[in-house]
Amino acid sequence: QEAAIALLRERIRDVPGHPNPDVVFKDITPLLADPVAFGHLVELLADVCVRLGATKIVGVEARGFILGAPVAVRARVGFVPARKAGKLPGPVLSRPYDLAYGSGVIELKDDALAPHDRVLVIDDVLASGGTAEAVLHLIRATGATVAGLAVLLELGFLDGRARLEPTLAGAALHALMSV
Ligand code: PRP
Ligand code: MG
Repeated sequence: QEAAIALLRERIRDVPGHPNPDVVFKDITPLLADPVAFGHLVELLADVCVRLGATKIVGVEARGFILGAPVAVRARVGFVPARKAGKLPGPVLSRPYDLAYGSGVIELKDDALAPHDRVLVIDDVLASGGTAEAVLHLIRATGATVAGLAVLLELGFLDGRARLEPTLAGAALHALMSV
């Protein structure tokens, strides 16, 4: 597991100045392009899913889809997309949010989850926590239980963990690595 995480760390590239001059972007595309590294990542996140007894994974558009979908298949649970505004058909639950470098609106189909569901949210990066906070609120609005949030990488200096603490309300926050 230590070796697997070291490989993941090696495959994340820093891109200073993207998407704006104040941000050092964490580029996960080298990790995705390496089947060994991507395989380790899926296994590690699927372990979290099984350990938490989750019945559904919610992946956060867009990078949370790339990670969440294979993890759901591996862990044998359903996958539910949380999408940016206007993409999901039919009745949706919507929530505006601010993130480290912008703002948006995130949506969930209102019938995507049931009260008996235990949901693990998956995303690539936890930065300010704004995106995850909005998704957690949407999940609770469906009546489902939040089992936890799992990310590849936590940007510790942005204090997303502290921001999410009241919203998590005891649910797990699992980051495979932190910078
Ligand atoms: C990025 C990242 C997380 C979010 C974290 O998504 O993938 O979803 O920001 O930021 P926060 O903790 O400050 O909310 P972004 O919407 O920028 O792009 P994406 O569509 O490529 O995932
Ligand atoms: Mg994202």
